[in-house]
Amino acid sequence: MKIIRTKTYEEMSHEAAKILAAQIVLKPNAVLGLATGSSPIGLYDQLIEWNKQGELDFSQIRSINLDEYCGLDGTNDQSYRYFMDTHLFDHVNIDKQNTNVPNGKAADYAAEGARYDALIEQMGGIDIQLLGIGPNGHIGFNEPDEFFTKETHVVDLDPSTIEANARFFASADDVPRQAVTMGMGGIMGAKKILLIASGASKKEILEKALFGPITPEVPASLLQLHPDVTVVCAVD
Ligand code: F6R
Repeated sequence: MKIIRTKTYEEMSHEAAKILAAQIVLKPNAVLGLATGSSPIGLYDQLIEWNKQGELDFSQIRSINLDEYCGLDGTNDQSYRYFMDTHLFDHVNIDKQNTNVPNGKAADYAAEGARYDALIEQMGGIDIQLLGIGPNGHIGFNEPDEFFTKETHVVDLDPSTIEANARFFASADDVPRQAVTMGMGGIMGAKKILLIASGASKKEILEKALFGPITPEVPASLLQLHPDVTVVCAVD
């Protein structure tokens, strides 16, 4: 595991963006596993800037996102599809047909999970998976539990996740109670992992995840078993 400590969110974003950009340059049709939330916004802004300057070409890039709220479709401005469109896809030359987010409005979530896992396989696997970390150690929406779930599945969001994500909604009552998330198998199957974290509030959970016992109570701790993880953090 490689850990890059930076001083600010901007520096973290820049360092992490360089790693994703290197992947895009090395493999122009790479499969990028992408995340939403506050952590990657600066990184996406940097990628957009390099794309506008003609330094980075997304025309053959394929992407697969970690998660989506149940009950929200892409027109809902709180959906993760909407987030990805507005924070990245609408501003770079990516073919939207090559971008994937779980279907939050699927009639049958088990079938949606199976479709999503099959899709990852058909794409040839994820070349680099970008991750944030939740205050409870979740990655994607794999919440603390008694076991790790391998497949893409529906989860009941943890009260701490609902509270943390309430800042994006009018109130905590408006945060969906469930989400579809890529499972730990999909994440751990990625060839490379890039985990970003910023803010003092993430320091303790990040240390637990990276150096504590490997346990489903801290889902991100499983990353200790992945052979190619880079962490870029600004948590001091
Ligand atoms: C988002 C996701 C989540 C976030 C995590 C951290 O797609 O899967 O695991 O990465 O909740 O969120 P922020 O970056 O908002 O602190």
